[in-house]
Amino acid sequence: MERLWWHDAVIYHVYPRSFLDTDGDGVGDLPGVRRRLPYLARLGVDALWLSPFFASPMADFGYDVSDHTAVDPLFGSLADFDELLDAAHGNGLRVLIDYVPNHTSDRHRWFRDARADPAGPRRDWYVWRDPSPGGGPPNNWITLFGDSAWTREEAGGQYYLHSFLPSMPDLNWRNPAVQEAMFDVARFWLDRGVDGFRVDCAPLIAKDPLLRDNPPAATGTSAHHRDLGGFDSQLHLHDQGHPDLHPRYRDLRALLDSYGEPGERIALGEVHEYDWPAWSRYFGRDLDELNLPINFGLLGTDWHPEAIRTTVRAILDAVPAGAVVTWVMGSHDDPRVASRVGPAQAANAMLLLLTLPGTAILYNGDELGMPDAAVPPERIRDPWGLRTPALSRDHARSPMPWSPDSPSCGFTFTGVEPWLPLTTPPGGTVRDQEADPSSLLSLTRDLLALRRASAALHGAGLAFLDSPPGVLAYTRSPGPGSPPGAGGDLLVTLNLTDQAVPLDHLLPPRPSGGPWRRVFTTARTRDAAHTGQGALAPAEGAVWSAGDGGGPHRT
Ligand code: NOJ
Repeated sequence: MERLWWHDAVIYHVYPRSFLDTDGDGVGDLPGVRRRLPYLARLGVDALWLSPFFASPMADFGYDVSDHTAVDPLFGSLADFDELLDAAHGNGLRVLIDYVPNHTSDRHRWFRDARADPAGPRRDWYVWRDPSPGGGPPNNWITLFGDSAWTREEAGGQYYLHSFLPSMPDLNWRNPAVQEAMFDVARFWLDRGVDGFRVDCAPLIAKDPLLRDNPPAATGTSAHHRDLGGFDSQLHLHDQGHPDLHPRYRDLRALLDSYGEPGERIALGEVHEYDWPAWSRYFGRDLDELNLPINFGLLGTDWHPEAIRTTVRAILDAVPAGAVVTWVMGSHDDPRVASRVGPAQAANAMLLLLTLPGTAILYNGDELGMPDAAVPPERIRDPWGLRTPALSRDHARSPMPWSPDSPSCGFTFTGVEPWLPLTTPPGGTVRDQEADPSSLLSLTRDLLALRRASAALHGAGLAFLDSPPGVLAYTRSPGPGSPPGAGGDLLVTLNLTDQAVPLDHLLPPRPSGGPWRRVFTTARTRDAAHTGQGALAPAEGAVWSAGDGGGPHRT
């Protein structure tokens, strides 16, 4: 199979509001992202994915788009975007942008037309229904907040559907004009040169045409990677994931493939589907739909070797032959990984993310070990958090701390108060960590360099090994069939405990009889025991090479 750039890429997810504020309004902007491209190029990632920067009333911080082809002045201008894109390409970085097909803002021209003229052509671009025969919403579908997904319009008395906030009405993809209009949006950005899209809420664009009620879920279960309260009271059978989405994604893929060489522009999909065979259907039967449906499996997996093994195996078993898996450990919607696994394990989480086969998404700040920020109630901004505090995502959106010597840690150029409270990771700001070879930032950079240079890490082969309690161990090899210890293989050992673990029986014998060489370790502080071949230090993650010298090489 021909290798394309995204087959083993590391995609750095930028949340622009929280990256770097160059114009002094306390909110990050596109020129801020451009200023930090050298940082990202030094880090060694392959691509950026930018969360929305389009015109928006910001009810959901940009996921409520009011004009898909305009840059919101908060983030800059279209010219700023073009400059950023050129500069990213100049730095060897691809650029993916968010694409939000399921809903718009209620201030979008399309919805204003639909609302104003019930007999007009735009009415059917959204999902309108009369009240149910007994009065009330047309069916039992609910939003993430557990309340009805339908809002009644005073004028005319019909209800419109919204999977999220009432100010974010769902588009009706059953109307071909909607697909055409949204594909025009895609063309607009592809014509400017973007390398693809991250498709927001990919399963939501096809719902049951009969709008049947969802059945109740068994109490106390969540089909999601975290407890979503009221939303989890239903099985979301009919309000998403209808098979009619497949032709739509096939069309989107064909559109992407019509730009330049087929396979160069891609769709990365947000797919919150935790039944892995069902998740794998987003690749398309002939791998002709989403190039990279994201799996969120690791976000809901306990930080224990057995749990991680089970999740990774189940996902890899479900991936169709020839398809590429995409892993994430953090996002702008989830608790920070360093808080979830604990600061001592943050380096192991990074090591796992960057040594699994396929592509990886690295959420901005995770390379610093950013913890969840403390956000006092009066500073909550997330609409989910304002409605249901337990769902708040603000703590994962805290501004990037660039340098220690300003009140805003270098996030704003003017020192103005950032839009969310700052937090500094234990290893310090970017500037501190760049100067410290034992920092998570330095580890991440070294790991990315190792990944680039290693044929084994680019390969699909992964085999878990029997390992002492608390240790996760696997070999990585260029192909799925190679025996552990073959030349060019790497072995990854993660000590998920805070005790040293002897390695006596861990490292499998190598065919050549020679020793495994530790080519990477997370245990870099002066006080970490130097353990040689005999043991893993507390919380140490290590990569071992079976090669006989010269280090791992990409072939
Ligand atoms: C998923 C996005 O990641 C999230 O931030 C947003 O609120 C919803 N989609 C709605 O667009």
